[in-house]
Amino acid sequence: GGLTRFANHPMPDFTVADLRAAFPRALAEVRADFGRTIPLVIGGKEILTADRLASVNPADPDEVVAQVCQAGTAEIDQAVAAAKAAFAGWRDAAPETRAAVLIKAAAIARERIVALSALQVLEVGKQWDQAYADVAEAIDFLEYYAREMVRLGAPRRMGNQPGEQNRLFYEPKGPVAVIAPWNFPLAIACGMSAAAVVVGNCVVFKPSGLASAVGYGLCGIFREAGLPDGVFNFCPGRGSVMGDHLVEHPDITMIAFTGSMDVGLRIMEKASRVVPGQAYCKRVVAEMGGKNAIIIDDDADLDEAVSSVLYSAFGFQGQKCSACSRVIVLEPIYEKFTARLKEAAESVKIGPSEDPANFMGPVVDASQQKTVATYADIARAEGRILVERLCAGKGFYAPMVIVEGIKPEHRLAQEEVFGPILAVMKAKTFDEAIDIANSTRFALTGGVFSRSPKNLESAKKRFRVGNLYINRNITGALVERQPFGGAKMSGVGSKAGGPDYLLQFMDPRVVTENT
Ligand code: SER
Repeated sequence: GGLTRFANHPMPDFTVADLRAAFPRALAEVRADFGRTIPLVIGGKEILTADRLASVNPADPDEVVAQVCQAGTAEIDQAVAAAKAAFAGWRDAAPETRAAVLIKAAAIARERIVALSALQVLEVGKQWDQAYADVAEAIDFLEYYAREMVRLGAPRRMGNQPGEQNRLFYEPKGPVAVIAPWNFPLAIACGMSAAAVVVGNCVVFKPSGLASAVGYGLCGIFREAGLPDGVFNFCPGRGSVMGDHLVEHPDITMIAFTGSMDVGLRIMEKASRVVPGQAYCKRVVAEMGGKNAIIIDDDADLDEAVSSVLYSAFGFQGQKCSACSRVIVLEPIYEKFTARLKEAAESVKIGPSEDPANFMGPVVDASQQKTVATYADIARAEGRILVERLCAGKGFYAPMVIVEGIKPEHRLAQEEVFGPILAVMKAKTFDEAIDIANSTRFALTGGVFSRSPKNLESAKKRFRVGNLYINRNITGALVERQPFGGAKMSGVGSKAGGPDYLLQFMDPRVVTENT
C-alpha cells in the first residue's frame, strides 16, 4: 500500500499521567545500564577496540553512561570498505524498499520514544521535553525522507520533442561520511543518515564523543529495521585521530556534517583536495553556527516576547545552532522589556535536567563550561551584567548570563558562544534593529516581535536569515513545516526536512532515446 500523508509526531503532553510516570522509570532503566561497553559496528559485525572513551552524565560526571570503543584509522578503512562492498546491492534496491526500512525504523523509535528520550537526558543533559522533541524530530525525518524518496524515485519525462524520449532520474553516490553533533544527538544524526541511506548510499557514521550512546541507539534502530549489513557503519572515534582520515579517504564521495564553523570549514578544505585513487569530487553539506537575534519592536506583546526570548536563549542551555544569543530592543520599550526579562530569568530553576522542575541544566562538558566562563568574563568587560545565575553542584554548570550595553562591534555580538549567554542591544529605529540583526557572518535563525504590519513586511524582506520566526520562539523547526538551515557562515547545502534535501545526496542523470 501507499504511504499516508506526512504528519509531525505530536509534542509530549505531560498532563498525561502515564507519560509523567514513564519518564522516571525510563531514567532508572538507563541508569541500571550505566557503564556498559559500546562496540563499533562495521559490516554488521560488532568490533571491540582497545581505545575507549567514557561518555558521562553532564549533571554528575562521576556517572559513566557508557564506555565507548573508539575507531582508529584502520577501523575507518574497514568501515569505508564495508560501505563500498554493500553499495551496489543497496543502490539497486527499489526506492520503495529503501523507504520501507525508514518507515520501520520510525515505528521502532516511536515505540521506544520515552527510553530514547531518557538516554538523552542523562547523556547530554536535555530537559524531558527537549529530549522528547529530539526523538520526535528523528521520527519525522524518517517518515518524511521515506516519502521524499518515493516521490523522487519515479523518473521524470523531460521535453516533448516527437521521436525522442528524455528521462531524468537520480542515483546515489557511494560511501558517505556522516559526522554528527551532540546537541541534537538523535534527530540530526538520524536526519543526515536517513537521507544518505534512503537514496541508496552507504554510510560511515561518526557520532559525537559526547553522545555516542544515543548514536548507538540509532544504529540499533537501523539494524532492527532490517537495513542490510554495511549500509550503516557505526564508528565513534576521536576527531583528532580519525576525522581527517575519514574526510580524506579516497572512496568517500560526500560528507554530511553538522557542528561548529571551525570544524565545518576544515572539512570543506580537506574535502576539496583530491587524493590518489579518488574518483569523485567530494560534496560537503555542512550545517554550522549562528548568532541569532530576536528584535523586540516598541509595540510588541511583552508576555509573549519575554517567555519566547527566555526559551529561545536558554532552552537546553542555549546549546542549539538556532538559539537566540542577541535580543535587539527598540528604545521606547527598552526599560520595560529588560526589567521583565530580568525578573523572568531570575525566577526559573536551574539544576539537573532529569528533574522536570528545572528550566535550565548543565552544559554538555568541561570544555563548554570553560568556554561559557570565558565569555562571561568578556561580557563583564564589554557590557553591564543584567542577570548572572550559577547553579552550584558537581555537574558542568555554566552561568546563565544576560548582558546589556552590547554594540555590534563587540565580541558578544559577533561570536557564537553555544551556551547560556544572551546579549541585549538597543536600537533607535526598526530599520536600525534589522541592520544590527544582519551585521554578523551568520544567517541562520531570527525572530521579530511586533504588531506593526509595515515593520513585519520590512523584516520579511530585509532580515536575511534562513529561518525567520514572527511573534514566536526561534528554535524547534519542524520537519516539512519549517525546512531548516542557513546561509553565509551558517552553512552550505539546502534545508534539512525540506523538499531539496535528498537531492544533495544523489547525482542526476538523463537518458535520451531516439525512438
Ligand atoms: N533544528 C533545530 C532547531 O530548529 C536546530 O538544529 O532548533
